[in-house]
Amino acid sequence: MKILITGGAGYIGSHTIIEILENTNWEVIAVDNYSNSSEKTYRRIEKITGKKINYYNIDLTNLSLTEKVFYENKDIIGIIHFAAFKSVPESVEKPLLYYHNNLNSLINILKCQAKYNIPNLIFSSSCSVYGNLDELPVTENTPLNTPESPYAYTKQIGEKIVDDFIKINPTLKAISLRYFNPVGAHKSGLNGEVPIARPNNLVPYITQTAIGKLEQLTVFGGDYATNDGTCIRDYVHVCDIAAAHVQALQKLISDKNFPKHSIINLGTGVGVSVLEAIHAFEKVSNQKLNYFIGNRRDGDVAAIYANNDLAKKMLGWTPKYDIDEMMNSAWLWEQNLNKKQ
Ligand code: UFG
Repeated sequence: MKILITGGAGYIGSHTIIEILENTNWEVIAVDNYSNSSEKTYRRIEKITGKKINYYNIDLTNLSLTEKVFYENKDIIGIIHFAAFKSVPESVEKPLLYYHNNLNSLINILKCQAKYNIPNLIFSSSCSVYGNLDELPVTENTPLNTPESPYAYTKQIGEKIVDDFIKINPTLKAISLRYFNPVGAHKSGLNGEVPIARPNNLVPYITQTAIGKLEQLTVFGGDYATNDGTCIRDYVHVCDIAAAHVQALQKLISDKNFPKHSIINLGTGVGVSVLEAIHAFEKVSNQKLNYFIGNRRDGDVAAIYANNDLAKKMLGWTPKYDIDEMMNSAWLWEQNLNKKQ
């Protein structure tokens, strides 16, 4: 059984490929154009799993190139569509780039899914679709507010496109997974996030500061109405996210009564403040981090964390890792990355 993974060289895509190769008998076809990743990722996956993967260097906004993958692999039974641009601030600066890339690639994948009658799709969505929130934790029934960025709009519209498309195709099913804050790395320390430019996200910023690539971490705001004044997020281990994709696809493949299109939160349900995340890092790495409390960052919400009951009920998914393990694996990966350079 072949599974197509778009964005296969990316952060979540690569961990999901590892999870698939280690726990199923599915064959992986990976697609990426390395706009925010590198072909080297596949060597790391091969080292961890001892298995070869087939992959294509393709820009999914090109329909004829996209179709080539489906034409050459007629026995694909599922697609996991990760490929997308994902930086919130960059999307504010370059909205057309984000709308063009994220929406055209999705539409091309769906056109091919219909034409080649691929029964199952998993779509990467994000908790950013909720916009600013009044009530926590967030359930899937929480009404969607106006997204805060073009990136978040592409995910909100993306879910709607998938929904409208699945409705009119009787043989096709989909699950949209709303990720909270995926962090951490594979336990081997051999695969993790590789920020190409200066990182925007907290955990790579922490590990790069600790290793000396960056001088100092700024905590964005210490005057929020939270327990310690810093923002609260739902950090979830990337390997737990990867496992959820395998469980989701298994459900679609094996459960004839599974709904046509489900939308499911992927978070731990635990809110962690920026200072708590820093302290977890300091504990597992046994060193003090150079940080200071600075001004708030534009566009940040004070607090967001998931209600994950639906993922438990529908997918049988329970996250295994806590914040210490997330930090420990991210730190191991940063140290290994640094050794190689
Ligand atoms: N933070 C700092 N200093 C930094 C970087 C981050 O204090 O140098 C803080 C942020 O202010 C925030 C928290 O750490 O409070 C987490 O920030 P991230 O940038 O790691 O993550 P976000 O919650 O902002 O963004 C994530 C994903 C997006 C997604 C968004 C949804 O990266 O893709 O959640 O809200 F859209």
